[in-house]
Amino acid sequence: MTVTPIKTIDPGIKAEPAPVKVRLNGLSKMFKVNGREVTALQDVSLTIASGEFVVIVGPSGCGKTTLLRIVDGLDEESHGHVTRFHTDPSKPLSSMIFQEHAIFPWLSVERNIGYGLRMRGLPKAEIAATVAHFLKKMGLADYAKAYPYQLSGGMKQRVSIARAFANDPEILCMDEPFAALDEQNKAIMLEELTRIWSETRKTALFITHSLDEALVLADRIVVMTARPGRIAAIFDNPLPRPRQSYEIRKDPAYGEISARIWSILREEVMKSRGETV
Ligand SMILES: Nc1ncnc2c1ncn2[C@@H]1O[C@H](COP(=O)(O)OP(=O)(O)OP(=O)(O)O)[C@@H](O)[C@H]1O
Ligand SMILES: [Mg+2]
Repeated sequence: MTVTPIKTIDPGIKAEPAPVKVRLNGLSKMFKVNGREVTALQDVSLTIASGEFVVIVGPSGCGKTTLLRIVDGLDEESHGHVTRFHTDPSKPLSSMIFQEHAIFPWLSVERNIGYGLRMRGLPKAEIAATVAHFLKKMGLADYAKAYPYQLSGGMKQRVSIARAFANDPEILCMDEPFAALDEQNKAIMLEELTRIWSETRKTALFITHSLDEALVLADRIVVMTARPGRIAAIFDNPLPRPRQSYEIRKDPAYGEISARIWSILREEVMKSRGETV
């Protein structure tokens, strides 16, 4: 299988057979806000392997969404470069699940879920089968014909998740996808996401404020600093798979890794609030 680098700004970087899916090299991003320059990201370097599940945590405003948008190709870096390796051109390279549910209000639930597949011109029967599969998985089967205004916030977010998965991208970028879900649906969706991920082994980049979510999902957890967002620390998740949200809490390693991550994260959250540590 050939590996095509989608975007290689540095001509020195070549496609490589090693299972690298995304490489961020010295990435920085500045925004102009009211004539003032805000550095959202500063010198972020990270290599994500194909099939790896990386979770990013960090204080509010530290540049997590910005980072994800750059990886997804929705935004441009100011300095540094991003290299993404596209192995199957018949499928989309990446899909994004946004922080605020972003579904088309004028399309029914089933048409929202099948949107990417229609854009790719897949056969109708295949689209119908995939849509039916994800409607069931997300507990939305009775709402196939409903419109977004008829759904609760959590249901809209499930449509958004279903649409991203149905699209079958190589990289899934997820920006706090469960933040709007209630506790019970969140636990079920976490299990569902880990199950789909272990079946499909997609490369996943997931943002959350919840260490619980991070420890259920991640292979590695990246902790970011207060703005300007840099990488403060990267942790390997020591908890064995398969993991379930309530079960992992029984593991003594859970308490230990949570405390280690929180000690760094807490410091950064305090800095972001302008408080001394
Ligand atoms: N389009 C934009 N124009 C100007 N500034 C922006 C823009 N997008 C983000 N920023 C700024 O960049 C910084 C990082 O924002 P970002 O949304 O990436 O943070 P975040 O880590 O996702 O925060 P949260 O956890 O609250 O979602 C913030 O200071 C924000 O104001
Ligand atoms: Mg954000």
